[in-house]
Amino acid sequence: MKKDIIAVYPGSFDPPTNGHIDIIGRAAKIFPKVIVAITHNYNKNHMFTLEERLSMMKESVSAMKNVKVSSFSGLLVDYLNEINSFCIVRGLRALSDFEYEFQMALMNRKLKKNVETIFLMPDQEYTFLSSSMVREIASLGGQFKNFVPKSVYKKIMSKRKLNV
Ligand code: PNS
Repeated sequence: MKKDIIAVYPGSFDPPTNGHIDIIGRAAKIFPKVIVAITHNYNKNHMFTLEERLSMMKESVSAMKNVKVSSFSGLLVDYLNEINSFCIVRGLRALSDFEYEFQMALMNRKLKKNVETIFLMPDQEYTFLSSSMVREIASLGGQFKNFVPKSVYKKIMSKRKLNV
């Protein structure tokens, strides 16, 4: 393995979940440097602004010293070029993720020849977890405390109060 390899874990993280943090922890044990790259709001109706997602993620990974949190707009492969990386990390939860992830990995490789996508599996207890489920449960008043980092829980609860 190259010693200076930078692994990029991209996503919308709207909001970050314990499943995401699990994947980041695994990547941080394998790679010397991991950049969590959060997308701008380009085609989704996000619950959180980019600034909110950056701040929640930064707080959630603050104990992992080789992990940095950043953002990007435009194509992921252009961002990889910018930071001199060729390695994408994605989490794979279940068969249902596979088709989308496979398509994205191959398309990224078409767009930039030397790009590799590494898939990591989260702990079994997170295989059912997604940001969209957390958003739905939270907006319908359900209990989601065990699915997200503390800072994310606090942020969602404060948003909920503002909406009542
Ligand atoms: O959290 P998500 O929505 O699963 O993350 C998807 C993401 C952000 C990784 C993907 O949509 C992406 O890379 N977007 C940037 C634009 C881009 O490069 N599109 C082509 C991907 S093949």
